[in-house]
Amino acid sequence: MSTPKFLALTIKEPKQKTPLTLESYEEPDLGSGEFLVQNVAVAQNPVDWKQLDWDYGVPSYPWTNGGDLAGRVYKIGPDVTKFKPGDRVIAFASRKTPRHSAYQTYTVALENRTVKLPESVSFEAGSTIPLAYTTAGAGFIDALELPFPSLDGPLPAKPNGEPILVWGGSSSVGLYAVQIAKLAGFTVIATASPRNFDYVKSAGADHVFDYNDSDVVEKIRAAAGNNLSRVYDSISENGSIENAVKSITAPSGRVAVILPPKPDASTSTVKVIQTGAIKASQNPDIGKAVYGLLEAALAKGIFVTNKVKVIPNGLLGVNAGFELGRTHKVSGEKLVYRIAETPGLN
Ligand SMILES: NC(=O)c1ccc[n+]([C@@H]2O[C@H](COP(=O)([O-])OP(=O)(O)OC[C@H]3O[C@@H](n4cnc5c(N)ncnc54)[C@H](OP(=O)(O)O)[C@@H]3O)[C@@H](O)[C@H]2O)c1
Repeated sequence: MSTPKFLALTIKEPKQKTPLTLESYEEPDLGSGEFLVQNVAVAQNPVDWKQLDWDYGVPSYPWTNGGDLAGRVYKIGPDVTKFKPGDRVIAFASRKTPRHSAYQTYTVALENRTVKLPESVSFEAGSTIPLAYTTAGAGFIDALELPFPSLDGPLPAKPNGEPILVWGGSSSVGLYAVQIAKLAGFTVIATASPRNFDYVKSAGADHVFDYNDSDVVEKIRAAAGNNLSRVYDSISENGSIENAVKSITAPSGRVAVILPPKPDASTSTVKVIQTGAIKASQNPDIGKAVYGLLEAALAKGIFVTNKVKVIPNGLLGVNAGFELGRTHKVSGEKLVYRIAETPGLN
């Protein structure tokens, strides 16, 4: 085995304006339930560049961030029972220290936030899943209070005749909200730009409407009939929450949102509830259900993953990817970095 190179994309100061650079680090120690993953591909989420630009959620500098990784287990720490060196895995990085983050060559991963990645799914596609999927799954249980797709019955479950709306079905989070809802047996109504209609339908949406149409809410209400009581708003800004509330046709309902809503977002009949990926780590039962379904769905090959757009230059390409995120140039796809393409690594 060749000598490992421990290199991390490093944020050196709050709101750093200069490109992030690679810094070396020592092989990290492993605590209980931890293991080291040799990353093959890592994926970008909006929170990554927001964290840098807004100096948000960084306890100290220098820092390395990134939530999504795919790779091979390199070394096992104490009390790890589910994984062994060489296993292909995807993990939702805990980001509790720089060494627990994704934008580096090796990440300390946690057993309860990692699932095996079947050979049938590439590392690039696999890396796009954890954060967005976990957000969608946790919100489904926590904010919408819906039963999660059961692993004991058929997947997808028998249709239950109930509609659900996913606002922003082509977003990373929305694509998984669509799939989870479909696996649970719902009739799925979604919104997206017309260029992404087929993509969202391929994930299981039964009806997709253009969120830019002035009469989008009327179209949703007409498709839903009179029992739409649940909305997963995977955008939660630019008027989506107001539209989500107006789309409810049942006498009362719940809207799950993943960014802070305005204080008066709820009405007398519709509750707007903020949720997020964090709910899966705060509540072990939610975590167990969410990661359990992910592993089962991957193994059965019934999961549509986000479209991958590989940005060149490996970890150093993240600087260009953050710029694409900031300028809203990410549409219906996920930016992915191949670690092996990082200059100076080989
Ligand atoms: N709380 C949490 O735990 C958590 C976790 C993950 C993400 N988030 C937040 O959730 C948001 C989405 O994250 P993401 O990773 O899913 O984003 P993303 O994949 O980068 O979202 C891009 C997509 O959003 C769609 N979109 C943009 N504005 C829309 C609108 N008004 N209505 C419907 N669709 C719209 C676009 O669809 P078209 O191209 O089809 O137009 C585009 O494909 C971000 O603000 C992120 O910070 C929060």
